[in-house]
Amino acid sequence: MVSEAQIAVHWREEEYIDPPAKFIAQANAADPDILERFSEEHFPDCFKEYADLLTWDAGWDTMLDTSNAPFWKWFVGGRLNACVNCVDRHLETKPDKAAFIWIPEPEDEDTQEITYQELYDRVNEFAALLRDSGGVETGDRVTFHLPMVPELPVSMFACARLGVIHSEVFGGFSGAACGGRIADSQSKILVTMDGYYRNGELIDHKAKADEAVEEARRQGHEVDKVLVWRPHPGQYASQSPIVDGRDFFVDEVLEDYRGQVVDPVSMPAEAPLFLMYTSGTTGRPKGCEHSTGGYLAYVAGTSKYYQDIHPDDTYWCFADIGWITGHSYIVYGPLALGTTSVMYEGVPTYPDAGRPWRIAERLGVNIFHTAPTTIRMLRKLGPDEPQRYDYHFKHMTTVGEPIEPEVWRWYHDVVGKDEAVIVDTWWQTENGGFLGSTLPALQPMKPGSCGPGVLGVYPVIYDENGDEVEAGSGTAGNICIRNPWPGIFQGIWGQPERFVETYYEKYCRDPDSKDWHDWPYFAGDGAVQAADGYFRILGRVDDVINVAGHRLGTKELESATITVDEVAEAAAVPVMDELRGRAVEMYVSLKPGLSPSKEIEEKVTKAIENEIGKIARPKTVWIVSDMPKTRSGKIMRRVIAGISNFADVGDVSTLANPEIVDEIQHHVQSEKVARGETPRELTPEELEEIKAFGQAE
Ligand code: WTA
Repeated sequence: MVSEAQIAVHWREEEYIDPPAKFIAQANAADPDILERFSEEHFPDCFKEYADLLTWDAGWDTMLDTSNAPFWKWFVGGRLNACVNCVDRHLETKPDKAAFIWIPEPEDEDTQEITYQELYDRVNEFAALLRDSGGVETGDRVTFHLPMVPELPVSMFACARLGVIHSEVFGGFSGAACGGRIADSQSKILVTMDGYYRNGELIDHKAKADEAVEEARRQGHEVDKVLVWRPHPGQYASQSPIVDGRDFFVDEVLEDYRGQVVDPVSMPAEAPLFLMYTSGTTGRPKGCEHSTGGYLAYVAGTSKYYQDIHPDDTYWCFADIGWITGHSYIVYGPLALGTTSVMYEGVPTYPDAGRPWRIAERLGVNIFHTAPTTIRMLRKLGPDEPQRYDYHFKHMTTVGEPIEPEVWRWYHDVVGKDEAVIVDTWWQTENGGFLGSTLPALQPMKPGSCGPGVLGVYPVIYDENGDEVEAGSGTAGNICIRNPWPGIFQGIWGQPERFVETYYEKYCRDPDSKDWHDWPYFAGDGAVQAADGYFRILGRVDDVINVAGHRLGTKELESATITVDEVAEAAAVPVMDELRGRAVEMYVSLKPGLSPSKEIEEKVTKAIENEIGKIARPKTVWIVSDMPKTRSGKIMRRVIAGISNFADVGDVSTLANPEIVDEIQHHVQSEKVARGETPRELTPEELEEIKAFGQAE
């Protein structure tokens, strides 16, 4: 077994790479003074600089209110409207500038440019419809199940204009997953789409709305209206029937609202702007509640300094708005700064791996932002494609998963043509915006490390006892943030205790304290800090598996699996995957008297697709005779994860049934060897991740 000290010796330090001089010369944050302005002695007032990027209806009285710790409140007393900040206020200076450029997946279809003026008009009409026909009021929740289409930001801003809380569910999630989130947020309205293109196929999306309404009903919640956008008015791209009195085509209802203008509702800074659901250690997803003032100030500030967005840039964040990255860095951050944000409907490699670079060339994109999974895929399928296109990025981002240094170098040398600076941004759905990153003009890059904490964010690594793990010690631990920041979520919708328990209980020094110093935020990631202060994120220490940058809870996967009649018990574990970073392997044991079959394996896969979505499809379903368990009956996922990855299974002496470990190991590993699926040797970071998996149970 490899000890942590040995791991320290193995950890190779990567070289520094300096940002190009041309980038530095034009950067928003080029004066090192900014580091001083955001240093701890200026906290929390330093965040005035972010808030000043916005237009407020009323100024705040209190920058940071800690009286109800750890439910932090920022800019208390301040009032603003997020839609006004992202849309209205740009009309005076740039009504004809494109707010969004939308590229449909089929390459022969026209690109759409939506100017700030058009966006304003469309947002107002839809806001009028939501209010007058949908009957929604300030503070209500509305769920969207929308793919990457311009109607999604239009719907978001329409809600923001009314002070209605939007809750977008990633379009690739199943109807059932959407229904659960509708019920949790008690949304009366579901906004969806008839169909959309994905990898060359027209997907029937409205069908999922029917399943969603059904699932919500099963959970005791009734949806009043389903609003169906159709990109081609009059043409219905779904087979699913329209339910009278419940389903409405937005294009038809909008006829009554053409040209209407809705007064924006001036919202308190702490009013929730949206919910974004994410997975955690229990089956019930967490609706992370983000504020209006703090969130918007934080994404505007980080977009300015970390994305280096200038008004004249053409910025493309190649992510899905269904995830937090898209909310913060396709929609709210870039539009708060009045830039042009590019949206692409489809998959990166459709129809071939040159597609993103053709888009970049044609539109003159100069800032590019995506996830390691996309980078890995493009590198595998088209390693030389970027050279064939004449585009020039000044700045690139990687986000959502750890990036391997070799993949980072390809991104830098080939995609960035050695001209672009890279930021590796570490953060989470809960955080609103970046937590760890280099400041692009002022701090050198280091492949595989996100860098130090961002401006005004002070991370620390704690061991299990709450002692600080020193930078440069080479020892991994739990990364935490010592202080609150404006983008932090305000809570989990309807589950305040879970918020405190999950994120604060572990390292809280005094539950009665009103002093933020006593409440470090536990991020749930393992990390190691080099002597230079840069963090290297190793991955989740809880029961979350990060597949292609999508967080999947083991409990959700397992609950879906046990809906299959034959299954007695289920356990989900991560397995290293060349393209997706991690993939899921499901282990199941069957009810007495049943024997393993291909059919049961397929049923498990189908159940997961139906309950969660295709993104969660397991790589393999292993049917085993029993699970390794502790004496108290808990499944030891760490042991199975070790087996799946050909890693050390660790100490099994405390198991109730240690003999099963050899049996499973033999079964799974010999089958993998036979299929040619033996993994490469794992890196120390990966070994550490496997060892820590399920540790939070
Ligand atoms: C992981 C995505 C390494 C991490 C914005 C985190 C990363 C989880 C990075 C959050 C990064 C995110 N390097 N790992 N740059 N960024 N992660 O909520 O494990 O979808 O906890 O938010 O992704 O995923 P989420």
